[in-house]
Amino acid sequence: MKLKNKVAVITGAALGYKDGGPSIGSAIAFKFAKEGAKIVVVDILEQMGKKTAKKINETGGTAIFVKADVSKTEEVKNVIKITKDRFNQLNCLVNCAASYEGDIFHNVVDTPEKDWNNTININLNGYFRFTKYSIPLILKSGGGSIINISSDAAFQVTKDFCVYPVTKAAINSLTRTLAVDFAPKIRTNAICPGFVKIANSENDRTPEELQKWIDGIAKKYPLKRVCSVEEIANTALFLASDEASYINGQCISVDGGYLISDTHDF
Ligand SMILES: NC(=O)c1ccc[n+]([C@@H]2O[C@H](COP(=O)([O-])OP(=O)(O)OC[C@H]3O[C@@H](n4cnc5c(N)ncnc54)[C@H](O)[C@@H]3O)[C@@H](O)[C@H]2O)c1
Repeated sequence: MKLKNKVAVITGAALGYKDGGPSIGSAIAFKFAKEGAKIVVVDILEQMGKKTAKKINETGGTAIFVKADVSKTEEVKNVIKITKDRFNQLNCLVNCAASYEGDIFHNVVDTPEKDWNNTININLNGYFRFTKYSIPLILKSGGGSIINISSDAAFQVTKDFCVYPVTKAAINSLTRTLAVDFAPKIRTNAICPGFVKIANSENDRTPEELQKWIDGIAKKYPLKRVCSVEEIANTALFLASDEASYINGQCISVDGGYLISDTHDF
């Protein structure tokens, strides 16, 4: 067991809101629990967040669900208080919660200010808040690891989609800053996925439409398939474990070689 006697807070760890299918955060929660960590599942989605915790508890692990909006400081502080009261330690924080809501598929001129601010407040400031209020407890617990779920969008932009890549690039910079400021007690790294198939990718597509859409995306990847949530969870487990004991301040693309290839131009 790679995370025996550890406690992990994972934000955005509810199962997919459409049908309880996979999300990246829930896959990380299941993986960490299987490796012995006690999990604090955090999300705004109460029903699906409780489902993640229930599934862990039913399969021999230990998890609690705490409902919190990462954009609200008092709710974030409450998660850390509950973690301390319940487990009296925190060894790993995984910042994963992000929102794609609002009128954000635009260039800078056309993006409404309120949607820009809302995305920054959840996707970037949410990581800042959770990190800020977790660090004292991680240090008190003897140190640990912070993992920020970022994106290849931190390195590469898409036309008419400006605010999301801005948050991910800033998360990578935050990752490096934390890696310097809080080493040697805390190692901080980021995972930058390419396209990952999650339950919520399905939107309102029929199964046939969904397959066609995913096949089209997969063609652009050197590995000729898209990433699974388990492959992101495997990377998170590695980074959280002692096997990554000398890895600090890295922003690791888990994208099947997408960014370094030119296949997406064809
Ligand atoms: N799926 C992909 O292709 C992909 C690619 C690159 C990066 N990512 C990143 O992976 C992470 C997880 O996303 P996902 O793909 O599993 O999507 P998802 O929508 O299934 O998961 C995001 C979770 O965050 C929660 N959330 C949203 N706003 C919140 C808030 N204010 N407070 C608390 N929780 C909130 C949602 O309820 C949801 O459960 C995100 O950071 C995303 O940017 C995903």
